[in-house]
Amino acid sequence: MSQQQISLPAKLINGGIAGIVGVTCVFPIDLAKTRLQNQRQGQQVYKSMMDCLVKTVRSEGYFGMYRGAAVNLTLVTPEKAIKLAANDFFRHHLSNTGKGLTVFKEMLAGCAAGMCQVVITTPMEMLKIQLQDAGRLAAQQQKTVVMTSTKLVATNAVLSRSYNSGIVVSAPRAVSATQIAKELVQTQGVKGLYRGLGATLMRDVPFSIVYFPLFANLNNLGKPSPEESSPFYWAFLSGCIAGSTAAVAVNPCDVVKTRLQSLNKGCNEETYNGVVDCISKIMRKEGPSAFLKGAGCRALVIAPLFGIAQVMYFVGVGEYILDNSPLRMLSA
Ligand SMILES: *[C@@H]1O[C@H](CO)[C@@H](O)[C@H](O)[C@H]1NC(C)=O
Repeated sequence: MSQQQISLPAKLINGGIAGIVGVTCVFPIDLAKTRLQNQRQGQQVYKSMMDCLVKTVRSEGYFGMYRGAAVNLTLVTPEKAIKLAANDFFRHHLSNTGKGLTVFKEMLAGCAAGMCQVVITTPMEMLKIQLQDAGRLAAQQQKTVVMTSTKLVATNAVLSRSYNSGIVVSAPRAVSATQIAKELVQTQGVKGLYRGLGATLMRDVPFSIVYFPLFANLNNLGKPSPEESSPFYWAFLSGCIAGSTAAVAVNPCDVVKTRLQSLNKGCNEETYNGVVDCISKIMRKEGPSAFLKGAGCRALVIAPLFGIAQVMYFVGVGEYILDNSPLRMLSA
């Protein structure tokens, strides 16, 4: 079966199901990524991904790890649909022979797909990040209060007692994504939802340029013969490898995007006026290594997400649902 014969609606179903399964599996790691990326030197609440997950469960419960997941679950279908469909569309129109594409044209198709996808990705990330980061801000605030009062105990016991009783750690307001979206649109208009659009493009366009050709070429290596397609585990592995490679490559842009989109800052956390300001402040205050924050988490998030997507495509759940064509299971 060649790629061009698969109908668009079938692809949309495949992409949507893959997205929902993927989000359910890896959302906690995504949450850890956001929190690690937002930590500044010297006031770390979390030491590593595991430390972050353990502390999150302890203070926010198991569902705490899924704070913001509803945003992804709702919007991942339209988002993935746009990206996969756009990529197919551009690949199809760029190939005049009906056969394979040159690497350059593959890149072009991936790039155009990334540009289309961003329309949904940016507001989605915007809402997700506020929800994911709320627990870190609360933990940081608590830590600061505890540290301040411990210091005071050492210097002045009487003062500290009166101080302690006066300090109220405000519990994080449990706001929903819809509330945040409403508030943003009311105060800043629709553009409030598109904060970090530039950074999102800087991340997603290069991501696609790396991902799609890398996937296509890796996947080709597994073909038993030029006419046959690669076995399903090969598609899965190709998706994982291409996805995590691309994710790590664009991680610096992801750090910038997370920082720009985080509306609430902890104490001593600077605000940024735009991409250039953000990059220079991070460089100055935290050094170049800060751009790698969350890179491991991102690889762990993206690899299964893209591997699962490729498997859904391969198995053809969409085709099965739409016209009852047989599922392609383990047989290649
Ligand atoms: C949630 O959606 C955003 C926006 O597309 C994406 O970057 C992120 O990887 C998604 N997270 C998960 C766990 O699916």
